[in-house]
Order: sequence, then C-alpha cells, then structure tokens
Amino acid sequence: MANVVVVGSQWGDEGKGKIVDWLSERADVVVRFHGGHNAGHTLVIDGVSYKLALLPSGLVQGKFSVIGNGVVVDPHHFVAELEKLRAQGVTITPEVLRIADNAPLILSLHRELDGIREDATAGLKIGTTRRGIGPAYEDKVGRRAIRLVDLSEPETLLPKIERLLTHHNALRRGMGLPEIEAQAIYDELTTISDQILPFMDQVWRVLDDKRREGARILFEGAQGALLDNDHGTYPFVTSSNTVAGQAAAGSGLGPTAIGYVLGITKAYTTRVGEGPFPCELDDDIGRHLATVGREVGVNTGRARRCGWFDAVLVRQTVRTSGITGIALTKLDVLDGLKQIKVCVGYELEGSRIDYLPASMGAQAAVKPIYETLEGWSETTAGARSWADLPAQAVKYVRRIEELIGAPVAMLSTSPERNDTILVHDPFQD
Ligand code: IMP
Repeated sequence: MANVVVVGSQWGDEGKGKIVDWLSERADVVVRFHGGHNAGHTLVIDGVSYKLALLPSGLVQGKFSVIGNGVVVDPHHFVAELEKLRAQGVTITPEVLRIADNAPLILSLHRELDGIREDATAGLKIGTTRRGIGPAYEDKVGRRAIRLVDLSEPETLLPKIERLLTHHNALRRGMGLPEIEAQAIYDELTTISDQILPFMDQVWRVLDDKRREGARILFEGAQGALLDNDHGTYPFVTSSNTVAGQAAAGSGLGPTAIGYVLGITKAYTTRVGEGPFPCELDDDIGRHLATVGREVGVNTGRARRCGWFDAVLVRQTVRTSGITGIALTKLDVLDGLKQIKVCVGYELEGSRIDYLPASMGAQAAVKPIYETLEGWSETTAGARSWADLPAQAVKYVRRIEELIGAPVAMLSTSPERNDTILVHDPFQD
C-alpha cells in the first residue's frame, strides 16, 4: 500500500479536483503541501458543485484533512471558505481539519503588493491571481513572516509585525505608498485568530502518527509542475515548489513515506496568465477547445489559453516529479476533431531539441514539432471502460503514454466522479 502524491503535470487546471476527490474516497488523510488560495479545485458530487481554493478537497468527503507548513494561509479567506462550505452542508471542525502551526500567513499588505506589482507598467507582468501568494512566500524565505503560531502569542505579536513592517514600509516609501501602522495589522489578525487557532497543530507529528497507524495519506498538489519556482517556465511561475518532492518538505513527513506519484494530465494543454506556451493555438481549434472544455479559471474567471498536447513538457514533468503514472483528463473535449496534433519535440535555432530549455529567451523561441493523429467522431464522454472508447481515442492515449514515458493509471471522461476508467489503483502500488 502506498501513500499517493497528486500533482498537475502541466500549468495547472488539469482537473485535479475530481481525481483528488475520487482518491479521497479511498484515503484516510488528505494533505495540502504548498500554494495557498490561488488554487481552484472544483468537485462535482451528485450534481452539486463545490469550489475549493485553500481547504483540502478531502473535507467534502469528511476525511481527516491537513494544511501543511508549505502552504501560505490567508486567515480571512480561510474563515470565508469555511463558512461557504459549511453553508453547503460540509462539516468542518478541528476533529477533521488541522493547520500547521509553522504555516506562514498571507496578510492584507501581501494582497495589496501583489496587485500593485501586477498593475505596474514597468516590470514583468506575471498574470498572478493577485491573492498575495508571491509576497507572502518572499517574507517566509526572508525570515520575517508572521506564522500561524504567532497568533497564539499575542503578547509578542506586535514586535513581530513591526519587524515585518520595517521591510514593507521601506518598500512602500519607495513606491510612493502610505506606510502601514503595526496596530492595523495586529487588529486584522487578532479579530480572526480565535476562528483559526482551534485548528492549529504540529502537523508533522500528526501525520507521522497517522502513517504509523497505517493510514492511507493523499497529498493534494495545486497548480502544475510547469509553474514550479525551480522547474517551471521561470519567471512566469508561482512562488512555491509544485513538483512532487515538495509533498515531503511542505508537510513535514519525510520522503520515504511517499509511494506513488500520480500526474494529472489534460489531453490537451492550457495555461492562465502570462508566459511561454509553445503549442498555443490562436485559431478556431484553440477557441473550440476553450469552449468545449469550458476553460475559464475557477477562482479568477480568467479565460485560459489553449493548445495541443505538449509531450515534451509532460515528459520533463514525469522526470522532475518522478511520476509513476498519470490520470488523463478531458479526453472528450477532443471528440469530433478530424485531426489531432501532439507536440513531440521543439525546434530551436534550426536544431531539434527534446526538452524545455531553462532560458526565458529560448522558452519563448522554441517552435513545436507536431505529429498528426487521426481524430474520432464518436463521443468518449461518460465512458467507463476501454471498450466504450473509439479505437482512435485508444490510439491517442497509447501514443501519449509512449511519448511521455509513463502509463495511464486513470482516465477521466467527465466531471462526474464515477465517469472514470481505472487501470491501476495508485494506493495499491
Ligand atoms: P500566483 O500563484 O498567484 O503568484 O500566480 C503565478 C502564476 O501561477 C500565474 O500565471 C497564475 O495564473 C498561475 N496560477 C496560480 N494558481 C493557479 C492555479 O490553480 N491554476 C492555474 N494557474 C495558476
């Protein structure tokens, strides 16, 4: 029996919510280990749609859930999301949810800074979710963050905020912004602390105990491996590590506890925000994929950019995340296309390469080399066995497996939980 890490193998929005929900049913514990409320996970259960950004998806199924130290937590958003889910009938108490005491907090000044930087005409526009994720991680590595545990020590909170503001007010003066009073941040935090502190715990210890009891642990990744701060399309990335290795550091459970890495992979490619996208289609097919695939951001409502499947990128992710098998999603969006292209390599300055180069200039310059496959006219939506799939669709899936070097463990054929073809149960590895 293996503990399972789920990661997005592209730029996020691969349909992780549904797969995590499906796996949650078989898990005892669900853990978020990086990112924050920039993630947007949609679960559809018995026709009811649940939208989560910060809370682990397992909560909807009543599973014991954990927000690890690798996550940046906006306490005000936490309370709002908690109330929204409770209004939908989901039970959330400290019995089922724990948040790491050492998790850094996202404050209003982080949200403000994120937005100001994005709006600045000079500098690099990343197309962030404007939720303060980047600035909060900067303060974490800058060793000046306010962490959840600090809320439990109100007598020393004010000097910690003052120390943080030494940095932020210097920045703000440089940007011509009014300085922030420490008392304002203190009030912002202490008005909410009694609603979040009951969930605080030593998550590393809780998880180790669960592991020793033989619990099945599911690590729920957010975003995608190509948004990883080290391995993604830097600087057009998020501010955390999104590759599977982060599951260990971001939860405090050592890497030997991880068994199976499941890469959620969309049957084509999408991206929100700025940055290179070699297979992007700015034509009728791109618009068709966006419409049929309903490619609009869960959180921000932004239209997603669409393109053909890029096997170069996913092959690289299979290696950087140590992906054991993939869950292929949204195959039905390709139904009815006469021809389907797959990117099998790139051309860069007249040479063929089989990887995503690290340089920003080279990433923008690579041209996709395509292989063309015949499409299928039948529908694959709702298929629950391989026998329900048209022969050309099976061929497409097999070719993807070959190109990326990893097998399909699961195939998702609609947003509904049970429209899933299981080839290999990751927990049984
Ligand atoms: P940030 O995470 O808000 O700093 O945004 C950095 C980049 O990551 C931007 O390109 C965002 O669009 C992208 N991003 C962040 N969260 C998600 C997600 O859940 N899905 C897809 N893209 C995301």
